[in-house]
Amino acid sequence: MRVVSLFSGIGAYERALKNVGIDVELVNYCEILKDKSRAYSILHNVSEEKNLWDVTKIDTQKLEDFDLLVYSTPCQSFSISGKMLGLEDLRGTLFYNALEVIKAKMPKYCVMENVANLAGKRFAKDFEAMRDALELLGYNNYWKCINAKDFIPQNRDRVYLVSIRKDIDDGCFLFPEGNDNRNWWDLVDLKDMRPLTNRQQRMVDYAMGINKEDSINLEGEIYFDNAVITLRQSGLRFQHNREYPTITAFYGKGGGNFTIIAKDGKVLGGITPRNCFKLMGFEFEDSELLTEKGFSNSSQYIMAGDSVCVPVLEKIFEELLVEKK
Ligand SMILES: C[S@@+](CC[C@H](N)C(=O)[O-])C[C@H]1O[C@@H](n2cnc3c(N)ncnc32)[C@H](O)[C@@H]1O
Repeated sequence: MRVVSLFSGIGAYERALKNVGIDVELVNYCEILKDKSRAYSILHNVSEEKNLWDVTKIDTQKLEDFDLLVYSTPCQSFSISGKMLGLEDLRGTLFYNALEVIKAKMPKYCVMENVANLAGKRFAKDFEAMRDALELLGYNNYWKCINAKDFIPQNRDRVYLVSIRKDIDDGCFLFPEGNDNRNWWDLVDLKDMRPLTNRQQRMVDYAMGINKEDSINLEGEIYFDNAVITLRQSGLRFQHNREYPTITAFYGKGGGNFTIIAKDGKVLGGITPRNCFKLMGFEFEDSELLTEKGFSNSSQYIMAGDSVCVPVLEKIFEELLVEKK
């Protein structure tokens, strides 16, 4: 299957395609950031010459034909304030650039993922305009909000949009239902934890009642049996959802946002990039390889946090493509 990937990041779609046994011929990928492009090229063993770099500069006339487009636009690309004029409003957004590629090449399938908010009240009109634009080009659209926790132990609510060219669509596409019951401690390497910084340790000690000097804002029910604890500038938040952390790019961006985990009454430490990769459905070895190639922890946190949960995509591709291989 010939594939073009836009906004490629570390290529969760490409990994999912490989995992379900689809024979992928990557025509091009498109990732504007240098370190992500290099990581993509390492993880998928392709030359960076295949990178189109900036989606706004793609010359669609020069693009080869392909069957499948995968494109998770950055979330800011749909934050279109204002008049809700449908497609006109989409101009100037990165979604519009993806649409230009689709219009020029008309692949059989297009798959995208974005924050669930896109399907929510605030952006409903934008999302509708996106689907209308695709429909106008000749696609049937299927979409659903899926929480990755039913596929891998991560709380990650996202909207998935599958567009199938009308002339090949049999109308039978159904989104998968997940039934994964694992918890984060079944998946991550419990020995691979990031030591807490002094500041983080003081916050934890405060929650444990050991540190009586500081005054730290605590949210949620304080517990250390199986705990996902989010650190913010303002304090600690004990997530009510103890089984599933949420991996975010903020870990790599400074500002103190981080996740630490506790088990059996003991704080194990901070989540490592290696465990973040695992909770996204990549492998420990992917992060190890990137570390070996000189990628910092921060850049790996950002890569994992910006990516898509691979097992959700695997199930979508199984439904969409495996029968039709
Ligand atoms: C939500 S992430 C997608 C992650 C990806 N699907 C993955 O599996 O890791 C969006 C990506 O689009 C990239 N990006 C932003 N603006 C871009 C542009 N103008 N051209 C190409 N890529 C862009 C960002 O650097 C980021 O990696």
